[in-house]
Amino acid sequence: MPLTDPPRTAPTRPIPSHTGHWLWGGTFDFQNRPAEFVLEGHERYGDIFKTRVVYGHSYFIRDPEIVNAVNVTHAKHVSKPKIVKQMWKPFLGNGLVPNDGESWKRQHKLIMPAFHKLRIDAYAPTMAEYTREMVCGWKEGEQRDFRKEVIDLALRIVAKTLFDTDVAGHSQTINDAMIDISEALIDHAQTPIPTPRWWPSERNRRMVRALDAMDDVIARLVAARRKEKKDRGDLMSHIVFATDEQGGMSEKQMRDELMTLIFAGHETTAHTLTWAWYLLAKNRDKLRKAQQEIDEKVGGRPIGVDDLRGLPYLEMCLKESLRRLPAVWIYAREAKTELHVAGYRIPKGAILAVSPLAIGRNEKYYDNPLEFRPERWTRDFERQLPRGAYVPFAAGPRVCLGKQFAMMEMRIVLGTLIQNVDINVLEGFEPDLLAELSLNPGERGMQMKVHFRNRINQPAEITTLLAKR
Ligand code: HEM
Repeated sequence: MPLTDPPRTAPTRPIPSHTGHWLWGGTFDFQNRPAEFVLEGHERYGDIFKTRVVYGHSYFIRDPEIVNAVNVTHAKHVSKPKIVKQMWKPFLGNGLVPNDGESWKRQHKLIMPAFHKLRIDAYAPTMAEYTREMVCGWKEGEQRDFRKEVIDLALRIVAKTLFDTDVAGHSQTINDAMIDISEALIDHAQTPIPTPRWWPSERNRRMVRALDAMDDVIARLVAARRKEKKDRGDLMSHIVFATDEQGGMSEKQMRDELMTLIFAGHETTAHTLTWAWYLLAKNRDKLRKAQQEIDEKVGGRPIGVDDLRGLPYLEMCLKESLRRLPAVWIYAREAKTELHVAGYRIPKGAILAVSPLAIGRNEKYYDNPLEFRPERWTRDFERQLPRGAYVPFAAGPRVCLGKQFAMMEMRIVLGTLIQNVDINVLEGFEPDLLAELSLNPGERGMQMKVHFRNRINQPAEITTLLAKR
């Protein structure tokens, strides 16, 4: 695919501009109300618009052709934006998410085999077991914050499956550290001139403490694996023992990759499940359909990987959830060179912001887009959907490495929940919608009341499961 398409001499289509403040342009409009800014911008200006921000121009795109160019056809000519790398640096260092170029290629090659389908399939029993254990710890009639429950669960799953470690002992340290780090990152993302790490603010101090705690947990995991000298074939072993012509990974690179996978591997999944829970709770007819499918096909036994093929409606519910309220609601690239795509000229250095949230609201591709309608995800519908019109996991070379892992995990977890508890939101409770690093319901969480539907709540099963904890 030529970079310049059409040739530079051809007239280019004008790109509507959101002018904003005379000095700051759209910087604060975006930072103060990010999701509203993007959604309203697309409503007002169409499938592409630009605004000036402190560091240059940002282009917001939801046109599938341009989205697909950024993700796939022109992927070589875009990189992760410098500003995004700077934001991640203190936390993820040079891990896969912010990494680029040759270093990214090498790391990607080393880590990818850990996400092979057969290997992922082997994680299914752990996912089902941990979910059932979570449910067994609940009591009929009590109020719980589903978001908190599922964050703990996703963290346990990622640690056990990818690092073969039960974080039960470390989970509070990791959770607290993740909260402090996320807050510091959001702060960093929302301040045009971020404070340096050494700045003695309370938030910075907390972030440094949190990073130290995480580094300590990771260093202990690596040391234990090294001492054991055994390649268990899991991701941790890939990271600790993998070598290529350049030798093994440096200690620092190991730390960065492990931190990246812990972070990328649990927040996104947990928040997607939180929104799926909410959408099903609010759409009881869809919930009943999903319950019926599971009751008929699986009954009360634990859901296994082989059951998933027979549960298409469950998968449709997740796909629709990822369209309606995608955890990664926006991601960005920087043009390494001038791009000509779909008749538009995008200058070198421009930031290209792709919003799966805005794409999912595009009426051209999704009729009645605010409606939660899993039934729309038929094979024919997916076949006719243009490339770039559904990208909750991005696409192309930088597609989410954990996509298959996440889709399997979410089907097992959500399926187990639908099977055993009544999915609901506490009467009168409406969650907030915070467009931060991931789309989440904020501090008030997702309040629900525990009502069991069946079997897993039987005493004998609880006793066996709790005894194993
Ligand atoms: C519902 C769950 C998930 C969603 C919606 C999601 C979404 C995404 C998106 C949109 C990206 C691209 C971000 C960008 O380019 O700026 C990404 C990258 C990535 N994700 Fe996920 N993700 C999910 C779960 C996971 C899980 C479970 C793991 C690991 C266990 C994971 C690991 C990664 C990694 C390593 C990358 C960087 C890939 C690269 O650039 O080479 N993700 N994810």
